[in-house]
Amino acid sequence: MFKSTDSASLHSTSANSQHQLPRTSLIFSVSDRVGALDDCLSALKELQVSLTRIESRPSRTREQDYDFFVDFVSQNDHQVGQRSDGKRPASVDQRPPPLSQAEQVIKKLQPLTKNVRLVGSSSQISVNAEQTPWFPRKISDLDGFAEKVLEMGEELDSDHPGAKDPVYRKRRAEITRIARTYRTGHPLPRIEYTKEETETWGAVFRHLRHACREHLYIFPLLEQNCGYREDNIPQLEDISRFLKECTGFTLRPVMGLLSSRDFLNALAFRVFNSTQYIRHHSKPLYTPEPDVCHELLGHVPLFADPDFADFSHEIGLASLGASDEDIEKLSTIYWFTVEFGLCRQGDEVRAFGAGLLSSFGELEYSLSDKPERRPFDANKVAIQKYPITEYQPVYFVADSFKDAKDKVRAFAANLERPFSVRYNPYTESIEVLDTKEKVVHYAQNIRSEMSNLCDALEKLGEHA
Ligand SMILES: [Fe+2]
Repeated sequence: MFKSTDSASLHSTSANSQHQLPRTSLIFSVSDRVGALDDCLSALKELQVSLTRIESRPSRTREQDYDFFVDFVSQNDHQVGQRSDGKRPASVDQRPPPLSQAEQVIKKLQPLTKNVRLVGSSSQISVNAEQTPWFPRKISDLDGFAEKVLEMGEELDSDHPGAKDPVYRKRRAEITRIARTYRTGHPLPRIEYTKEETETWGAVFRHLRHACREHLYIFPLLEQNCGYREDNIPQLEDISRFLKECTGFTLRPVMGLLSSRDFLNALAFRVFNSTQYIRHHSKPLYTPEPDVCHELLGHVPLFADPDFADFSHEIGLASLGASDEDIEKLSTIYWFTVEFGLCRQGDEVRAFGAGLLSSFGELEYSLSDKPERRPFDANKVAIQKYPITEYQPVYFVADSFKDAKDKVRAFAANLERPFSVRYNPYTESIEVLDTKEKVVHYAQNIRSEMSNLCDALEKLGEHA
């Protein structure tokens, strides 16, 4: 689960401050000769350019050439000759505008290189980096979220059932410390749960009901493959391996509530952040926060369903670099689906939201005649207000995960974002489709997939 508020405040931490600075990206080619790169770097040094990245590869178009990809922090773009109100002073209105730093760099590199150019046009992502919130590009970037929890984790609010229990607090601290030090690629830490913790799990396990068809289908598989039992709390590592085989989703441990932005960004990598500690034993059917019962009984089963996994992935991709306003809308959609969603199955309405499946009281209430139930419409859901400390007055009913996914995809396509992204599952990274080369490469991949699809259809036709 994520914190549904405060989404605006957390993406500009010190850890990300370098990424928040306006950056410019350039590509240029040089001949393979001794000193060629030195000449370029000397030119950049003369202009006092602060490089943040430089990468090279053999040129795809000219043998003996190398392509270089360079990022630098823009020092004076958009500031030269401007007043604080953003207008150019009257005295310079009639003169050509001074060169921006990017233009100066290009002019300096032109005699030394071939085909030097900005990545995308100057009105695209390079310039808009000022307004685009930082977002993770590779899966290990998610390690940066480890300590960015908003609340809970080791600290408990005074009204938390375990706030005055020093033994419980000490145990929570042990488990959250493990999550803090976890890094991508490591085995997920195993927790040896106590008898008391397992009994608390068992109490929630026994109350699981009214789940949607997909949840009911997958649950026995989790029992067979991952140790789901009333008298056993399953381990994240076992579940993560199982999900990876089903849909490519994986788990990673988290200390507590993440901001909406960070939580949704992780979904773009098909990663679900899961707590490992458990609610206080004095109130097994109540928790004010996500815990291992909420995550493993409520969320996990559906991440093994391909349509649900793709639906969650769509929300995650739409969240990358989104404005705070759009993050709010996407997190609201997430709230009314992944947390508190209902779906129609035949003549019945069933629950698929983890907040419902792990909260027996609200589950019964959501299916009673007390709340209002409306059909799922992404545009309307995105702006629906909701309480976070009491039962929902309104729930939305999806026709199916696939239908919800299609509607969210259409909604996301209308969000204002000056670039498109795709997830590369081979490199576990996000590609920003901001150059012709990347788009062409993407198109070639699709062409190859289409060829496979046509081949499969032909073979199916032959055997029909
Ligand atoms: Fe949740």
